[in-house]
Amino acid sequence: MDIKGKNAVITGASKGIGKAIAERLAAEGANVVLAARTQATLDDTVNKLQAQSAGKILGVACDVGKMEDLQNLVDTTRAQLGPIDILINNAGVTSQFPFEKQPFDDFERLVHTNYLGYVRLIRLVINEMIERKQGAIINSVSGSTLVDPIPRGFLTYSSLKVGLRAFLKGLFWELRDHNIKVTSILPGVVASDLTDSLENITAQQRDRLMDPQAVVDMVMFALSVPANCCPLELAVINQQTPWTKPVIDYKQQMADCPHCGENIEEMKRRKLETKK
Ligand SMILES: NC(=O)c1ccc[n+]([C@@H]2O[C@H](COP(=O)([O-])OP(=O)(O)OC[C@H]3O[C@@H](n4cnc5c(N)ncnc54)[C@H](OP(=O)(O)O)[C@@H]3O)[C@@H](O)[C@H]2O)c1
Repeated sequence: MDIKGKNAVITGASKGIGKAIAERLAAEGANVVLAARTQATLDDTVNKLQAQSAGKILGVACDVGKMEDLQNLVDTTRAQLGPIDILINNAGVTSQFPFEKQPFDDFERLVHTNYLGYVRLIRLVINEMIERKQGAIINSVSGSTLVDPIPRGFLTYSSLKVGLRAFLKGLFWELRDHNIKVTSILPGVVASDLTDSLENITAQQRDRLMDPQAVVDMVMFALSVPANCCPLELAVINQQTPWTKPVIDYKQQMADCPHCGENIEEMKRRKLETKK
């Protein structure tokens, strides 16, 4: 796809991964609509991009958890730029709880943002894409969907991402016949505000976090493949860590030794390291 002059909508574009994607698409000459809730941060990012870009840059305050905000985002884009060529569904939030302690409000916030926010926005844009027989829908899902069972503490976050990934895989086949490309991006752990708030992550682990540019490169790859093909899913996982051992420990076997109290997983790991 020639990105220059195309209209792209990016949710969660004021910070982190979404901001990095917005910067790159703007640099490539796209007209970019940035959406996020906090007006001041959004304005700041939009102003910076406007100063550097040849394309049009708009900021639309939007809570993707609210249907009326999503409708306003789509209507404003169409009115000011025309049809949407590229949708980057990216706005997301996380939290870390054992499920029995997770407040209902928090659980519902994740459902509305990380699942419904994506699916509803897709539903609002696809009929026009189908009529035009073109469009790209790229979605920040999560590398945590590759971990089975779901990492402890992230049951709501990751199970919603697993559901989203399944939905998008099905949508890929449905929209393929209409020449619309649907891609799921599965990043490992990326340095951003979202990961700043995580618990149990050491300074050494923090050094291994990926730069948002790794995700930007995946997006650009998805947009650059020839017209007759489409990456269904793209995963880029943190290096310097074995595939099955994510950057954030996900101790599935939390049982402690009844004799000494040490965590059994830790004990096994320590014994293996001693053998080496
Ligand atoms: N960072 C990682 O390690 C990682 C790994 C895999 C997948 N992901 C996914 O990548 C996406 C972006 O993550 P990130 O790390 O860049 O997060 P981030 O740095 O926390 O940025 C999140 C962005 O989304 C916006 N946002 C949050 N809730 C929103 C809502 N309800 N409506 C509209 N905008 C909202 C935020 O702005 P406001 O708060 O002002 O709304 C901000 O612009 C998420 O979907 C996340 O699940 C991240």
